Amino acid sequence: MSDTFKKLTAVRGMNDILPGQSAAWETLERLVRDWLRSYGYVNLRTPVLEHTRLFTRGIGEVTDIVEKEMYTFTDALNGESLTLRPEFTAGMVRATIEHNLLYDRPRRVFAMGPVFRHERPQRGRYRQFHQIDVEALGYAGPDVDAEQILMLARLWRILGLNDIRLEINSLGTPTERAAHREDLIAYLEGFKDQLDEDGRRRLYSNPLRVLDTKNPALQAMAEGAPRLLDYLGDESQAHFDALRARLDDAGVSYTINPRLVRGLDYYNLTVFEWVTDRLGAQGTVCGGGRYDGLVELLGGKPAPAIGFAIGVERLLELWQQQELALDASECDVYLVHQGEGAARQALQLAEAIRDAGLDVIVHAVTQSFKAQFKRADGSGASFAVILGDNELAEGAATVKHLADGRQESVAFAQLPAHLVTCLVAAESNEGPATGNTPADSV
Ligand code: HAM
Repeated sequence: MSDTFKKLTAVRGMNDILPGQSAAWETLERLVRDWLRSYGYVNLRTPVLEHTRLFTRGIGEVTDIVEKEMYTFTDALNGESLTLRPEFTAGMVRATIEHNLLYDRPRRVFAMGPVFRHERPQRGRYRQFHQIDVEALGYAGPDVDAEQILMLARLWRILGLNDIRLEINSLGTPTERAAHREDLIAYLEGFKDQLDEDGRRRLYSNPLRVLDTKNPALQAMAEGAPRLLDYLGDESQAHFDALRARLDDAGVSYTINPRLVRGLDYYNLTVFEWVTDRLGAQGTVCGGGRYDGLVELLGGKPAPAIGFAIGVERLLELWQQQELALDASECDVYLVHQGEGAARQALQLAEAIRDAGLDVIVHAVTQSFKAQFKRADGSGASFAVILGDNELAEGAATVKHLADGRQESVAFAQLPAHLVTCLVAAESNEGPATGNTPADSV
């Protein structure tokens, strides 16, 4: 079929977020911004496109992301190789260096938005997905490591989620990893024949990732492999112990997963993931860790750092499994009207009601009152305000309380204040307009 006649659809693995879903996104974003602010994080927004070399250098040549998942193209105008960001961290660090943000103090920064990875789409795995990315730059830890983990535990509480468990590990220093790597390669060489193509390819380039195998036949091999934790020197061990002590102080439970290595090359010391069993195969809701070498690797003065990213789609799926009563109403007041004079008055009244702080939708096409009321009901508004010939003649609108059908006549001049009073009264009777949101249960 020629391209002209092909049906137009979204790109595979990239989703539209429809009006029925966006209320949950917006509520989540609002809660997340308040949560980040309460720990002193400020927003840093970087471009969606970066030079490809930022990611090859930052994330590592021999990672799944750089090897096969990046959306990379040549800018036809100047021949530069550009890549849609597959994660935030490299770009956040680049911006920090470029604008010299660390010259006088450390920084706590965050970003939210779409990232792009060319993976095979399935439940919880998309090609455009969204991350909440949080980075503490210039902090050596372990206090900030613990703070970030406590912070995430708090977010799960704010959202009313209790089925997410924490796994932690320490990747030590590059020197400790090198010693472990040598022994690991020697160990894995003994299993060369049983490794699949990926495993054999990675044996010398990224042997830690070979242990990530999903192949049940190789589980025993992975279990018996030399553990990086046994190669930690005194300082790394002290860092890990101090992190654990702080988590214990706060009563945050965790398991140590010696095989947790993460899929990006920049990590050292602390790494962690939050995982749930309620999302099928893609159960990692959040991943992060320390990346003390990245600022220098990308051209800055050496500075320690730690961060994490939450997968928004996965978090929302988990959140929605809890059947949350989210406020999906489009407005407080729906204005229905009939006739030219009423239409003109409706626009004026709607502006006055908005001045009083309420959200108003004015019905837009000529339809019977019956059809208009149906839309008013569907909008989730608390009130329909009705304007017809009688109302115009009397200078008073009819207000219909959509919860119980009660009607009353209110003079135009008093209408905005009256609606505000009724709404406040209704909310204090029923509790907050959002009903039983998780925020209320914190
Ligand atoms: P990551 O583990 O690659 O880490 O991604 C973080 C989270 O993004 C994952 O835990 C998952 O929830 C979500 N995610 C990843 N891939 C997909 C996908 N294809 N579809 C849907 N969700 C996905 C990073 O990106 C690091 N930059 C995190 C970090 C920040 N480390 C230090 N600072």
